[in-house]
Amino acid sequence: MNWLAKAQRKVSEVGLLYALQQTKWTFLPEWLAELNIWNVNTIDIRSHAAMTRHDPALRWATNRDIPQLLACGVKPEVLAYAFGKSTTIAVYERDGRIVGYGQYAVGAWDLGDWLRFRFAPRDFHTAEVWVAPDLRGQGIGPKIFTFATSHFARNGYHRTVAIINVLNRNSIRACAKVCSPSTERFWYLRLFGVSYVRYGAVRGVGRWARRNRFDVMLGDRNALDLATEEIGTPTPATDSPETDAHVIPFPPRQAVPR
Ligand SMILES: CC(C)(COP(=O)(O)OP(=O)(O)OC[C@H]1O[C@@H](n2cnc3c(N)ncnc32)[C@H](O)[C@@H]1OP(=O)(O)O)[C@@H](O)C(=O)NCCC(=O)NCCS
Repeated sequence: MNWLAKAQRKVSEVGLLYALQQTKWTFLPEWLAELNIWNVNTIDIRSHAAMTRHDPALRWATNRDIPQLLACGVKPEVLAYAFGKSTTIAVYERDGRIVGYGQYAVGAWDLGDWLRFRFAPRDFHTAEVWVAPDLRGQGIGPKIFTFATSHFARNGYHRTVAIINVLNRNSIRACAKVCSPSTERFWYLRLFGVSYVRYGAVRGVGRWARRNRFDVMLGDRNALDLATEEIGTPTPATDSPETDAHVIPFPPRQAVPR
């Protein structure tokens, strides 16, 4: 396929504006110039606890999935801590091949080299959902989402926070199928490394970097009060048939880091 046909396919898949933004990400470093607007969807998942329907295509990832996840485009630096204490990955398989994944985090999530999102103790972050291009539009993304939310709900979590680029129409449509989110806008403008950030009443201007990230609490900020609540030991998952020692048995709970 020549580049023109590829470009046409991309534009019809994601829309002109998002295709242009993705092209910009390929060629220009983000610190140089970037305007991004995200929908911050805070989704109450407590009712998802009852949504247990075993689907053999869905499971939690193990260390053995790392080569396939890398091939799917998960960034190595993300994988480096994906199997750590505070993040986990759900995968969707077809014919023994991973064709979709979702990544979830509790506590905090670092984005790029200057942002840090924090989450209340009973919130978790839906950080990334990806489906193989030839299988998009078949409802796999929402299935991965529900697999994860039902699992987290059974383990005592109340909400998930999903941050979606306002230009990513496919992701917005997929999200609309599984939730009626309460949405806020997070937006930032970066020019030559200086960032202006706005999220509700939170505003800031600065030159943030890896060591002094712009640090913001997302989701239900009143839920910070829950930080003082006693959080019990999570019960093991009932929906993961895997018993492998490398399996992440359930998303661990973690107090909000200070
Ligand atoms: C966003 C994403 C995970 C959605 O997963 P999915 O399994 O395709 O979700 P759905 O089947 O519910 O489809 C969602 C929308 O995608 C659009 N879509 C349909 N067919 C499509 C196709 N062949 N290719 C791309 N998008 C398609 C449709 O508009 C659909 O909404 P509709 O069913 O109301 O018409 C997937 O498009 C993807 O992997 N995108 C690239 C990575 C990404 O942007 N991730 C989200 C940001 S973290």
